[in-house]
Amino acid sequence: MGTAANNPSIAAFIQDMMNNGGPDPDNYDHILELIDDLPTSEIQSLRNLMGPILNPGTIIGFSFCKPFGYNGDFFIIEKIYQHYISSDPKYRKWDQFFHHLPAAIAVVNRKKLAIEMLKELNAKSSDQTVNVLILGSGPVTEVNEYLKETPENKLAFDLIDLDQRAIDYAKQKNKAYTHCLNFAQKNVIRFTPEKQYELIWSAGLFDYFKDKHFVFLLKRYYDFIRTGGKMVIGNFNTENPSRKIMEVLGDWFLYHRSEEELQHFAEQAGISKSATNVISEPLGINLFLQVRKESQ
Ligand SMILES: C[S@@+](CC[C@H](N)C(=O)[O-])C[C@H]1O[C@@H](n2cnc3c(N)ncnc32)[C@H](O)[C@@H]1O
Repeated sequence: MGTAANNPSIAAFIQDMMNNGGPDPDNYDHILELIDDLPTSEIQSLRNLMGPILNPGTIIGFSFCKPFGYNGDFFIIEKIYQHYISSDPKYRKWDQFFHHLPAAIAVVNRKKLAIEMLKELNAKSSDQTVNVLILGSGPVTEVNEYLKETPENKLAFDLIDLDQRAIDYAKQKNKAYTHCLNFAQKNVIRFTPEKQYELIWSAGLFDYFKDKHFVFLLKRYYDFIRTGGKMVIGNFNTENPSRKIMEVLGDWFLYHRSEEELQHFAEQAGISKSATNVISEPLGINLFLQVRKESQ
């Protein structure tokens, strides 16, 4: 295949799509193939061709421009959860295309997985309060939906996020549930919990950390799992068919990790192999390392 800059037919295809207000569903496979085959040297010329939509008006452009200074802020994650589609005809088709990407579907799936896990924990718990810690809590949409669907809630949440804007947004969104939510604006690397938790959950955070920080955090937070409880840490799988488009158009780089790598981190953190396993959402794009704290 030729490249965006030196292949007039590819440039014409992109230009046609731009003139047409974005991709139609029958263009989706072609644009993905084109980006998957794009050599690094051609990334800039493709971005130039797509300049008019690489701004915060589209979800992918929001990622590219990083108005909050980093990728994966609460606002973009919330746009994915809410299936946000711009009302501006210049951008609408690009948002529709974005939600069709397997990685976006996997993010929605991981919210469902979190809700199921919270419901399960609530159902098996006795009447006393059960403590849950969420690291990198973002919009707190999974907890919000869980609470809406669970009138008999026994869980109390400590929610840690570095970004005060995320906390302000999540507080506003969850103002009906302040009695069971405790927010703290902290860096998870420096935060020291004051209690033990039945569940420690984190999604969309550890994939930004280098291996040594991943292991450090596993070790640190393991100490705060109550005996009989567990910690569940999400990470994008190396098998992510949307990786290249996230990197090329979203300038969104993550540490992708395999099941084996996640298990290896647990071993490096000194956690027995028998206490860990890896699960995933239905697409297998978001993996979750589960660590159980067993009685010694
Ligand atoms: C991709 S979002 C995921 C939000 C949420 N966990 C979810 O799955 O919906 C990542 C969140 O982690 C927060 N974050 C990033 N680095 C952090 C750190 N070092 N300590 C605490 N929060 C952090 C960001 O502000 C953001 O809200």
